[in-house]
Amino acid sequence: MNLMWIKDRLKEIGATQGHLATAIGRDQAVVSRILQGKQALSLEWADAFAEVLQMPVQEVLRRAGVLKTPSSAQRMIVGISGATGVVFGVRLLEILRDLGVETHLVITRPGAVTLAQETDYRVAEVAAMADRHYRVGDIAAPIASGSFRTMGMIVAPCSVRTFSEIATGVTSNLLTRAADVTLKEGRKLVLMVRETPLHSGHLRNLLQLAEMGAVIAPPMQTFYTRPSSLDDMIVHSLGRVLDLFDLELPGLPRWGEDSVRAMQT
Ligand SMILES: Cc1cc2nc3c(=O)[nH]c(=O)nc-3n(C[C@H](O)[C@H](O)[C@H](O)COP(=O)(O)O)c2cc1C
Repeated sequence: MNLMWIKDRLKEIGATQGHLATAIGRDQAVVSRILQGKQALSLEWADAFAEVLQMPVQEVLRRAGVLKTPSSAQRMIVGISGATGVVFGVRLLEILRDLGVETHLVITRPGAVTLAQETDYRVAEVAAMADRHYRVGDIAAPIASGSFRTMGMIVAPCSVRTFSEIATGVTSNLLTRAADVTLKEGRKLVLMVRETPLHSGHLRNLLQLAEMGAVIAPPMQTFYTRPSSLDDMIVHSLGRVLDLFDLELPGLPRWGEDSVRAMQT
């Protein structure tokens, strides 16, 4: 990744690499390594760079070669159901926005309850993070139809009730209808299932879903990346899900790659 264009931009706006270093809380040597492509530009750093460079983060990512297609070409449905871990859905919306992916959001009523229980966000604030937000009862919404083209759908987090509805095709609300449509159209449906322990009925439904083409992706913690915060863990789980859509989360630590080895020494 060649980021030398950043030097020109800094000159243009009268800023220096020191400003970038301050913005990411590192010394200038780290900035030099990033500019030379020797160190990955994480999403968090891209955000900080964007502020100093006075340009949208999507533009920084696009020029860095991370975003390969125009934002309008990518459209994702995000479902938030009432399992614990609502923050997965919230962070997912933030990351997809930074990656320039158009998001279409539906939150179940229990999803709104867990949002209030587990975070300080209001539903309206989370809705504002998406390009479009639909009421869970709005069964006539665009995402209820297969003719509305998307790259797929991620349910984060996914409750037992929601995955059971999808497994049986009952689809009593817009979230489960959109998931059913995603499957019937042969698009990717990823379910970040959150429940433990699981009884045989849960497991049967999950097997049924896997056989129908859904990807069952419980947000399991990864320790080989040496996470230093809860957010590291959340973002890593989301990065692995985005991999399934060929969406590259900048700076995602990967086993066998330099960043992970460096962390282990
Ligand atoms: C704070 C809180 C945490 C919950 N955690 C889970 C969970 O991890 N998994 C789950 O399947 N249900 C969980 N539930 C229960 C679901 O919200 C409940 O089954 C609901 O009917 C799910 O509906 P939905 O799938 O339409 O969102 C939780 C409820 C609350 C209030």
